[in-house]
Order: sequence, then C-alpha cells, then structure tokens
Amino acid sequence: MEVKPLITQDQIEERLAEIGEQITADYAGKEVLLVGVLRGAFMVMADLARHVNLPCEFDFMAVSSYGASTQTSGVVRILKDLDEEIEGRHVLIVEDIIDSGLTLNYLIKSLKVRNPASLEIAALLLKEGIQRVPIDVKYVAFPIGPEFVVGYGLDYAGKYRNLPYVGVMGEES
Ligand code: PRP
Repeated sequence: MEVKPLITQDQIEERLAEIGEQITADYAGKEVLLVGVLRGAFMVMADLARHVNLPCEFDFMAVSSYGASTQTSGVVRILKDLDEEIEGRHVLIVEDIIDSGLTLNYLIKSLKVRNPASLEIAALLLKEGIQRVPIDVKYVAFPIGPEFVVGYGLDYAGKYRNLPYVGVMGEES
C-alpha cells in the first residue's frame, strides 16, 4: 500500500525541539520520569527526550487498544506495567497518538491512584474532536484530522512503524 507523507521528518524534529524546550522550562529544578506507552511511542520518546535538558528517568508501559484493524475497539489491556514506583514523582506520559482517548483515560486513572507529584501528557499526534472522554493533554506536537496515519512509531497491521515521517495510507494504485 502507498503511504502519502503528512508530516515530514523535519517538521517532527522542529516541533519536538520546541516541546522539549517547553518541558525543560516547565519542569526547571525538578526531575522527570518519562513514561512511554509502547509500542507506538518508542520513536517519539527517543527523539523528544534528546531535547529535554533535565535529570530524567525512563519507564515504559505496554497497552493495547487496537486489534489489527484501523478502528479503535475501546478495549484497553495492560500488557506491561511500570517498573518504577511513581509516588511523589513528576510523571510525563509520552504517547504517539491520541485517538478516542480511551487508552490514556485508563492509564491516567490507574497512575493517579499511585500519587505522583504531577502527571501530564505529551503526544505527537492528537486527532481533533473525536475523543470519547475528555483528556487534558499538556503538550501536543501536531493536531490532525480523523485520517488513519502510519509511520514514526505508528503501525498498520504491525508494519510501517519505522518510517521516519507520519503518512496517510492511500488506496492501492
Ligand atoms: C495506539 C496509540 C495509543 C492508542 C490511542 O496504540 O499508541 O496508545 O492507540 O488510541 P485511543 O486514544 O483510541 O485509545 P495501539 O493500541 O495501536 O498499540 P501500539 O502502540 O502497540 O501500536
């Protein structure tokens, strides 16, 4: 299938540098625990973190909300929990995409009860206006439309995550 570029590698790099600077300023004097949501967030996590000039630690959660289809199922499964304790720590969740918001809604609920000092979200992509639950996302690199996107961590049936840009799946030509 053909993938049409939507957000280029340069645009991603530029926005992540801006957001990294913002995070660095907002958390000045604090230590941050960056929590990547696997699998999709591995790429944005690595590239964003390079622009965060703070003492940082890293942890990952693995959840699954999609099957092999392009539609969200609304079912969230925790496949891997955090290794770290987060009580009293500044936690910043890093996501590749927020679609229905159900994944993050579930994650936030399950992390809040562990009493972090703060809990915020940074997302590469936010599909505008289609969240099924209200989500307060502090850092968004790119608001996008409802189109199905792949690349830069995002997959279609497990593939395309390694594209260095975000693209839209086109019709087979
Ligand atoms: C994607 C994405 C988010 C979630 C967003 O993950 O990484 O975690 O879906 O969708 P939502 O806002 O509708 O809940 P996915 O379940 O596809 O797993 P993956 O990251 O392993 O591809």
